[in-house]
Amino acid sequence: MSTPHISASETQIAPVVLMPGDPLRAKMIAETYLENVIQFNDVRNMFGYTGTYKGKAISVMGSGMGMPSIGIYSYELFKMYDVDTIIRIGSCGAYTDTLDLYDVILVTGSYSESTYASVQSGTKQPDILYPSQEVNDALETAAKDLKIPLKKGIIHSSDVFYRQDGDHFKKLYAEKNVMAVEMESFALFHNAQVTGKKAACLLTVSDSLVTHEATTAEERQNAFTQMMEVALSQAI
Ligand code: HPA
Repeated sequence: MSTPHISASETQIAPVVLMPGDPLRAKMIAETYLENVIQFNDVRNMFGYTGTYKGKAISVMGSGMGMPSIGIYSYELFKMYDVDTIIRIGSCGAYTDTLDLYDVILVTGSYSESTYASVQSGTKQPDILYPSQEVNDALETAAKDLKIPLKKGIIHSSDVFYRQDGDHFKKLYAEKNVMAVEMESFALFHNAQVTGKKAACLLTVSDSLVTHEATTAEERQNAFTQMMEVALSQAI
């Protein structure tokens, strides 16, 4: 079997899939953390791999950037490959100076102006969507065991990276209580909801809209490693 965007056979994808935005990050995770690795996708270079972590099965695949992209891949994984749980592992920009670069965030809700959910389902949908409480609880427990601090909160899932008004985030922070911005979780949470599956999202802070600090690729690695260890704990 294959779908328009994934060339895997039915049994090649594990029940739990981790999704970084960057397909090369998926490759790096598979090479660094997994054993017995097979590559199940290379369509459009959106690499996907399945392997074992501490003896348990897990898959990792790129999502691409933005809701249209993660919308396609996560729908096909949930619906056509019967994947149970997708955990996005991404980066975000801070909307508040109470967040530091490299903090790891467990998303408790995703606010968006996006029409993705309403258009996909054909009926008006709420502008805030939620992850699976069960998966969030499991991630929190894993983080505690690993002694990795997590910050929890609602984030902004945006369709636009470059806005004309550079200060727009102040209003969003004040009115919607969103601590940071990324571009995928809203569509992922919606797809989990309509397919009856589970989703969650872990983020590391890679830049700040308040201070304009940004991390380098090398500096991001350590924070990313911590987030990865929390996510990989969900292998089954
Ligand atoms: N905006 C949107 N998405 C992001 C950002 C940002 O500043 N940083 C990381 N992902």
